[in-house]
Amino acid sequence: MSAEQRCPVVHFDHHSQAHAEDTVGGYRAVRRTHPVAWTEAHGGFWVLSDYDSVFEAARDDDVFSSQRLDQYGGPGLSVVIPKTPMHEHIPIELDPPRFRSYRKIVNPIASPAAVEKVADRIEKWTTWFIDEIIESGRADLAQVIGVPSIVTIDWLGLPVEDWHRYSRAHHATLAEETTSAAYQQAVQVDLPWCTEQMREVIAARAEQPRDDVISYLLQQEVDGRPITQAEVFSIVELLIAGGVGTTASLVSQTLVWLHEHPDVRRELIDDPALLPRALEEFLRYFSPTQALARTVLEETEFHGCSLEVGDRALLAWSSANRDEKAFENPDEIDIHRWPNRHLAFGVGIHRCAGSHLGKRMALSMLGQVLERMPDYVVDLDALERYPRQGVNKGWQRIPATFTPGERRLPPGAVPAGVTAASHV
Ligand code: HEM
Repeated sequence: MSAEQRCPVVHFDHHSQAHAEDTVGGYRAVRRTHPVAWTEAHGGFWVLSDYDSVFEAARDDDVFSSQRLDQYGGPGLSVVIPKTPMHEHIPIELDPPRFRSYRKIVNPIASPAAVEKVADRIEKWTTWFIDEIIESGRADLAQVIGVPSIVTIDWLGLPVEDWHRYSRAHHATLAEETTSAAYQQAVQVDLPWCTEQMREVIAARAEQPRDDVISYLLQQEVDGRPITQAEVFSIVELLIAGGVGTTASLVSQTLVWLHEHPDVRRELIDDPALLPRALEEFLRYFSPTQALARTVLEETEFHGCSLEVGDRALLAWSSANRDEKAFENPDEIDIHRWPNRHLAFGVGIHRCAGSHLGKRMALSMLGQVLERMPDYVVDLDALERYPRQGVNKGWQRIPATFTPGERRLPPGAVPAGVTAASHV
């Protein structure tokens, strides 16, 4: 089917500069007029932007596939438009029944009980990142947001002193302009370096297991046979890609918003028990993972549109989360909103495996910033956002001042060679 035969057609590119400047307005415009529409950007794809269409597509794996399908435009990351130069990720790029064999391996390491076991480690890393800036009274708060990267690297069993290289490479691949030096550095130098190191660590743990996630994964079976090291690699790289940028994005946006809304900040400082419910609202409102994609496997009529086999479809979680048909006053943050059936973690079988870990890390960072730096003031003129906001949205530089405080961890609490830095 030609582009003209697909309708309605909209001008929409989630990676354009115009969209980056107003992601909410960009989605609102398509959602209100054509909640399912075709765009010619990036080779052409359907944009699904209201709650119902995103919800339905994410729950229909027969029609909307997450697999890499070489026949529809060569190998690529099937859940991101356009493709990124990353390896195939398990289980996010699998459909049932293969998907289930792997998801059941991942679930136990990310359950609420498993996350509780790493809670002390999360608190320790948050304490340390804040220790590194607390005495100065002036810092880039993006530094505190290194926590998700270092926790993920530590939890997996990779060398923590290299956390920043992983963080920077994954962030740049999704959020820097593809023509920029940072993107080229990530794709040509840092990602290959990370791949090499991950493969070496996986091989080493296969020989000598330790108490870490990589060792756990290597001991699993898939359909009655031992898992391969290549499969473990695909899971590990996904856990980094999933764990590092998303939670950082959430916290960066929340910190800036709380600076702009001192009344809500005060409420959360006075009653930290409100934070978990508030966090669900921050997830809905900011939607760190803005949108992910599927490939159509069956010719289908969908919300008045004719979808063809091989068509790509962008599921805009962020836009669904601002749909006035699903949420009252969707463009306002109500930290008491409940129930809050947001789609920030997706929905259906691929719903985020790391949601409990992500939320625990975010609560730790927000909780400690509000407790230890309650009067922080962000220099709004010096804020820097991620250059592209199509997949992950957030701030990569958050210069702030605050009343200095005291360090909490004793000297030597973290391994020598680990240095603090902004997460990007
Ligand atoms: C605020 C934090 C996070 C957000 C907003 C988020 C968002 C998402 C979304 C929208 C999906 C659905 C993908 C799809 O349907 O195609 C997803 C899947 C996934 N996420 Fe997260 N995520 C977060 C944190 C994490 C963390 C901390 C980890 C792990 C360390 C993680 C690991 C995963 C994995 C493994 C999947 C794939 C699940 C599957 O295919 O079965 N995420 N995430």
